Amino acid sequence: MTRVWCSVTDWQNRRRALQGRGIGFVPTMGALHRGHASLVERCRAENEVVVASIFVNPSQFNDPKDLERYPRTLESDLTLLEGLGTDEVLVPNASELYPNGYRLRVEPVGDAPVMEAALRPGHMQGVMTVVLKLLGMVRPDRAYFGEKDYQQLTVVMSLVREFFIPTEIVPCPTVREATGLAESSRNRLLSPEGKEKAAWLFRALTTAANPAEARSILQAQDFVVEYVEERWGRRLAAAYLEGVRLIDNAGEAEYVTRS
Ligand code: PAJ
Repeated sequence: MTRVWCSVTDWQNRRRALQGRGIGFVPTMGALHRGHASLVERCRAENEVVVASIFVNPSQFNDPKDLERYPRTLESDLTLLEGLGTDEVLVPNASELYPNGYRLRVEPVGDAPVMEAALRPGHMQGVMTVVLKLLGMVRPDRAYFGEKDYQQLTVVMSLVREFFIPTEIVPCPTVREATGLAESSRNRLLSPEGKEKAAWLFRALTTAANPAEARSILQAQDFVVEYVEERWGRRLAAAYLEGVRLIDNAGEAEYVTRS
């Protein structure tokens, strides 16, 4: 049976009862798909208790329109989580997660922001702040994050290391459709033709000889490209298609062998 917690106080009582049991955690913003499911399945296989959260975190949206139209499918999300054997689902309110508004936040300073951090001002602060709150509420032994959001994964790893959070961060491979398109909650905002075109994002990342070539392949397919960059042994990109912002990345082995 899956228990759903909307009140943070009720959840905290429940958390006390779980003390001493091995806890795995999958934080999400809902509109769940096979990518999220793969994280929950891995979490189920590796932990005694599986906790997931669904929270569309306002502080990580730099564009209010993006926040407004972010898909929300709570009922089907809960059915999916139940089917995967999730024990506890947290669906907190913004007012409880941010009791004093956005007064305290985690802010990366120093190095010039790159990629997502540069193009979405405040986004990484919002992610780090909410992840810190969620990890504090759940206190999991392990937390599962997708490589789909590769920069987010690196930021979360720094966060737990630098704040001495005793949670192991487990990276999980990107789940894709047969076309190569990475599963994403935002895909459902695309038209059927848009969805076919969207597969060019991964295709361009894996077949181009270099980032500049990937950029021109994407532009030829009507993408508005924000960046294509190589870092951490990966090629990463963000681009708009039909006004929807898509991100993806490929590991060196995936593109070197194809170029
Ligand atoms: P969300 O976009 O819902 O993603 C939740 C988790 O699922 C993230 O770790 C993400 O990388 C992973 N994920 C998404 N698509 C995936 C795919 N195709 N294959 C594998 N994993 C995938 O990322 C967030 O929410 C938020 O920023 C959050 C961490 C919850 C903080 O608000």
